[in-house]
Amino acid sequence: MAEHYFTEDPSSKRSIKELTVDIRGFSFKLLTDRGVFSRGKLDRGTKLLIEAMNLEGVKRVLDLGCGYGPLGIVAARIAPEAEIVMVDVNSRACELAIWNIKENQVSNAKVILGHGFEPVRGMKFDLILCNPPIRAGKSVVFPLITEAKEFLSPGGRLLVVARTKQGSKSILKHMAEVFDVAEEIEKGGGYRVMEGSASIIGLP
Ligand SMILES: C[S@@+](CC[C@H](N)C(=O)[O-])C[C@H]1O[C@@H](n2cnc3c(N)ncnc32)[C@H](O)[C@@H]1O
Repeated sequence: MAEHYFTEDPSSKRSIKELTVDIRGFSFKLLTDRGVFSRGKLDRGTKLLIEAMNLEGVKRVLDLGCGYGPLGIVAARIAPEAEIVMVDVNSRACELAIWNIKENQVSNAKVILGHGFEPVRGMKFDLILCNPPIRAGKSVVFPLITEAKEFLSPGGRLLVVARTKQGSKSILKHMAEVFDVAEEIEKGGGYRVMEGSASIIGLP
């Protein structure tokens, strides 16, 4: 099978590249590599999601499909009191995310290797951030969105970014089926950020 950014153990020759990312008033040095999503540059969708994410009052955040870690690491810096959990299925991505957490002296984030919500069973999050693996297909992405609801605390939010021309419409439609409220909160550069909110009274 061809290697993708969501391959569990990439075998492509390593070629580490360091990025400098200035965003939300902070500067980060982030390592990326072959076999990991968006090597060599911050993805435009990731950037839009970072710019749109509101971390006010959040205590626990999940970066679902963290890749080399940009969403979780920036969230950790913006909300130093919050606990950030980062999960990815790709071992090389997790290795880089751990390295990037250390390099940027972030003390409130951790990385767990695993599939979807499996590593965080039993936990609840105020905010789930996801730049989903669109290339893996709807059969992977939609169940992640559906399952997210179960992992949100009352009033919690799921933020998803997608390309306008690559599934954003169907993702928003699916979010509207799953969540009490689903809406587009930001758009730009060919991407859209969508938010699904859990009811403030929680699941029955
Ligand atoms: C589009 S990339 C986004 C990476 C990173 N968040 C960013 O914005 O640069 C999607 C990520 O989801 C991961 N992924 C794919 N399927 C997954 C699953 N079932 N569970 C956890 N992570 C998964 C991929 O390995 C990839 O790193």
